[in-house]
Amino acid sequence: MKRILLTGSNGQLGYSCKEDLSEKFDLICTSLSRSKDTLKLDIFDRDAVSNTLKKFQPDVVINLSAFTDVNGCEKYPHLANKINFEGVKNICDNFDGHLIHISSDYVFDGRDGPYDESSKTNPISVYGASKLKADEYITKNKSHYTILRANVLYDYHIKTNASFLKWVVESLQQNKAIKVVNDQWNNPTWTRNFSNVILKIIKKQGYGLLNYADNGIMTRYDFALKIASIFDLDTNLIEQIKTKELKQEAKRPMKSGLITKKIENNFNIKPATVDSSLHRLKKLVFDKK
Ligand SMILES: NC(=O)c1ccc[n+]([C@@H]2O[C@H](COP(=O)([O-])OP(=O)(O)OC[C@H]3O[C@@H](n4cnc5c(N)ncnc54)[C@H](OP(=O)(O)O)[C@@H]3O)[C@@H](O)[C@H]2O)c1
Repeated sequence: MKRILLTGSNGQLGYSCKEDLSEKFDLICTSLSRSKDTLKLDIFDRDAVSNTLKKFQPDVVINLSAFTDVNGCEKYPHLANKINFEGVKNICDNFDGHLIHISSDYVFDGRDGPYDESSKTNPISVYGASKLKADEYITKNKSHYTILRANVLYDYHIKTNASFLKWVVESLQQNKAIKVVNDQWNNPTWTRNFSNVILKIIKKQGYGLLNYADNGIMTRYDFALKIASIFDLDTNLIEQIKTKELKQEAKRPMKSGLITKKIENNFNIKPATVDSSLHRLKKLVFDKK
């Protein structure tokens, strides 16, 4: 049985990876904060990374650790670089096996998306620049790597704080009106679909730079309407606004989205539609209660 070491396993994608990988592999979960089934590992701590890798000798490392607060990265660029680049470098420099790392569509400027793996990168935020720096380091310095680029990821579970879907569902359930931007495009992706892609990539030993996103490019506003209608909530509570009205610290790629032809053709992976994913998620979360 392959031994997999997961970093950042307390996060949104970490939760799904634990669900989908724990029975198939010898899974070692690590994150910045310790919890019942999770060891503490700060990926910026070079010695801790080296000692952990020596101790567990994993076949595969899946790096999910990141400073994902995009506005926070503008305020604390040093921290963004430490976690999103130096931390990744620490793993690369101390590990010879298969590294699976998660990148982002924020490496693009969002002028002319959707993007494929050969599209020109041009980050417009500190977060995007720090993610690109890590991608470039991995590409130059590792032979067995998979960089999986993702778009907006969503899930709904008790530990998720940063999920757009959870925010929409809970606000509308409480009859709260919400404002959602109608000028940012991407293909929202359920974390469970993404963790299943990671599973296939481990099994097939897929290497290189690959995009994965669910099937359906739409604006954030249209995604919110879709969530409301599938979860039987009031769409009238959703007001559309422009990104500039939010006056956020970080710029966002506006016309983004990921083209997934390479992963479809090379690994026979068929992205699920956003609609079918939302229906499955709703069943899993609410029909269980
Ligand atoms: N969310 C998205 O929409 C999205 C889109 C594209 C790409 N991505 C990429 O996908 C990956 C997973 O994202 P996610 O949504 O699961 O993020 P998340 O929910 O914010 O989780 C990130 C995790 O990183 C951990 N972490 C932070 N600093 C760390 C450090 N110094 N050492 C070790 N762990 C550290 C945190 O640990 P604790 O919880 O223990 O503090 C947290 O659990 C990231 O690489 C992200 O850049 C995400």
